[in-house]
Amino acid sequence: MADIGFDGKVAIITGAGGGLGFEHAKLLASRGAQIVINDLGGSVSGEGGDESAAEAAARQIEELGGVAVANHDSVATPEGGESIVNTAIEAFGRVDIVINNAGILRDKAFHNMTPDLVDPVIDVHLRGAFNVTRPAWIKMREQGYGRVVNTASTAGIIGNFGQANYGAAKMGLVGFTRVLAQEGARSNIKANAIAPIAKTRMTEDLLGPMGDNLAPELISPVVAWLAHDDCPVTGEIYSCGGGMVARFFIGLTTGIYDPELTLEGMRDQFDTIRDEDGYMVPAETADELRKLLAYFKVD
Ligand code: NAI
Repeated sequence: MADIGFDGKVAIITGAGGGLGFEHAKLLASRGAQIVINDLGGSVSGEGGDESAAEAAARQIEELGGVAVANHDSVATPEGGESIVNTAIEAFGRVDIVINNAGILRDKAFHNMTPDLVDPVIDVHLRGAFNVTRPAWIKMREQGYGRVVNTASTAGIIGNFGQANYGAAKMGLVGFTRVLAQEGARSNIKANAIAPIAKTRMTEDLLGPMGDNLAPELISPVVAWLAHDDCPVTGEIYSCGGGMVARFFIGLTTGIYDPELTLEGMRDQFDTIRDEDGYMVPAETADELRKLLAYFKVD
């Protein structure tokens, strides 16, 4: 089968000065996409900034034979998001793909998690995705084409000690992805999310020797596939790391139907409510509603 290409496509990748984002940029550029490398160039905790991070990454892409421009605005403000999308329009005339990847960490056990540890994390991960995607989305709707890939995390989907701020932002991105999937369907815009695990400056201390099996470039094929024209799915979440790829999904148990439900009834039927046998995977809110309506015997 022919290689999968991105000729004529323009991709914005946030936080692509290093780590996962830079790997995504290299892969997409090597397959013909024109890239906006966005990066503020700050520390892992989001302090400082260095314009040269995005510039150096874009230069490296060009040295490898790709086409890239640098942008060093912060995703954390609506103005930054506008400017990032304008960079794509000015340089390449369009935007087809947004990969929301920029991220920071400010971990602390919840009882010590003061607002200065919460707000910047929400601003970069969650608001950042809104800020960059919305101006791009308007163009995508006009052109009837778009792909959005959001970077979620098991820290939110499953939960992880010391990451209430980050986990909430990352799980927020799951809701964001699923709503965009529904709103984008009519305009051939697809939105999916990944929950990666890879050795980068963000995780190397945490992962220790295990990190040697978790090369960041093994995340990029997942992202590129979800960003491609041929991607068959929307609103889904993929767990990936070191070459392992699997789908996360949200399941709904069969549960109970008890129109005379009481507090004691909850206690007595709680195991049945939680029983995972025969669960369903709702693709849209109507699926859950249908399950409810079936009990009501309403046409
Ligand atoms: P990284 O620290 O190498 O990359 C994050 C990049 O985002 C940095 O280059 C940073 O300068 C940039 N950035 C931070 N704030 C920004 C802002 N306001 N505007 C623009 N750029 C900004 O770390 P890594 O691992 O490559 O992270 C990429 C994404 O993957 C993040 O969203 C992270 O939360 C997520 N992730 C990574 C995991 C891993 O195992 N490495 C696990 C789960 C999620």
